[in-house]
Amino acid sequence: MFNEIKKLDNSYIANTYNRFNVAFKCGSGATLYDFNDKKYIDFSSGIGVNAFGVSDKIWADAVIEQTKKLSHMSNLYYTLPQAQLAHLLCAKTGMKKVFFANSGAEANEGAIKTARKYSHDKYNENRSEIITLVNSFHGRTITTLKATGQDVFHKNFYPFTEGFVYAKANDINDVLEKINDNTCAIMMELVQGEGGVLPLDKEFVKAVEKIAKEKDLLLIIDEVQTGNGRTGYLYAYQGFGINPDIVTTAKGIGGGLPLGAVLFNSKTENVLGFGDHATTFGGNPIVCAGAYTIIERLNDEFLDVVKQKGNYIEEFCNGIKNVESISGMGMMIGIKTTKPARDVVAKCLENGLVVLTAKDKIRFLPPLNITMQELEEGLKIFKKVVEE
Ligand SMILES: Cc1ncc(COP(=O)(O)O)c(C=O)c1O
Repeated sequence: MFNEIKKLDNSYIANTYNRFNVAFKCGSGATLYDFNDKKYIDFSSGIGVNAFGVSDKIWADAVIEQTKKLSHMSNLYYTLPQAQLAHLLCAKTGMKKVFFANSGAEANEGAIKTARKYSHDKYNENRSEIITLVNSFHGRTITTLKATGQDVFHKNFYPFTEGFVYAKANDINDVLEKINDNTCAIMMELVQGEGGVLPLDKEFVKAVEKIAKEKDLLLIIDEVQTGNGRTGYLYAYQGFGINPDIVTTAKGIGGGLPLGAVLFNSKTENVLGFGDHATTFGGNPIVCAGAYTIIERLNDEFLDVVKQKGNYIEEFCNGIKNVESISGMGMMIGIKTTKPARDVVAKCLENGLVVLTAKDKIRFLPPLNITMQELEEGLKIFKKVVEE
């Protein structure tokens, strides 16, 4: 079966992914099976999407129930699941309003549009520049590629959207230097995910917040990867003790279906008005019904366990030979070993463990509800691969 899938894929799917040599058939939680019934422990959750693992029953039941009631309606009409999810998100964060999109890049597009409109309305059309951080990642649309602070993404697709400048992470003087009369916002991830699982310094983040408030620049926090319990907080900004003007998220919020969200505070909640922004699918009833079951379960008790499991992984990996460094927050962990990351990932896969890379690191984003047994089984495989 696998060979048939591979042949079809290679013939008909555009060549944008350098796929590993496996197709997964089914699974439950953090345990997956391929088409040869080989078992794998999953430390990837579809790059941080399957917050409660694959085919999570509570999520699946809500999705199936909603499918039978009302699968899709246009955003021209009210729907119950969307309203309920927005209420839950605001109640749990203190943010005031939500715009639902389909992906992380789209959520960031919404945030960028909002930041520019805020400044156009209040100041002038030139006040449109957004500072992002060197080594950041914000998405693959023409605008979010340019928002991404890595030159490697600024090629092939000219012309890119103008108006982004890049400041060095953890260097407040560089941020200050990059601010001018045309700056309207500062946008950053609190743990740079694709950039190598690098948490920002708390003092730096606090200092950015202070400057942004003083100069009326909007603070946009990209929680596409760090959000929805991943770092041991519902949203990582809560762990940094800051109050952003806009928070974007995607990945884990949908539990496996495509959903992005832009959360607005009292300063930004009314910036976008009728016709300023819209989407056909964003906030679809089925997706929102599933997402509600994800966000609802991310309570303090659950998040404490996420932190504990994160600590357990770090401690275990600290004792592995050939591990050079460990970074991250909660269950978002990057590990540098003496071996090339992609080789380690391929070897882990061979041995029944699914892990990711982030630059030169191996990245773990396990399902948040991974059992201790699955965790130990996976870590044992990782240790064997890295030490041999
Ligand atoms: C921090 C961050 N922002 C934005 C994105 C883009 O999200 P999506 O692939 O859903 O468009 C990603 C994806 O990895 C991300 O990690």
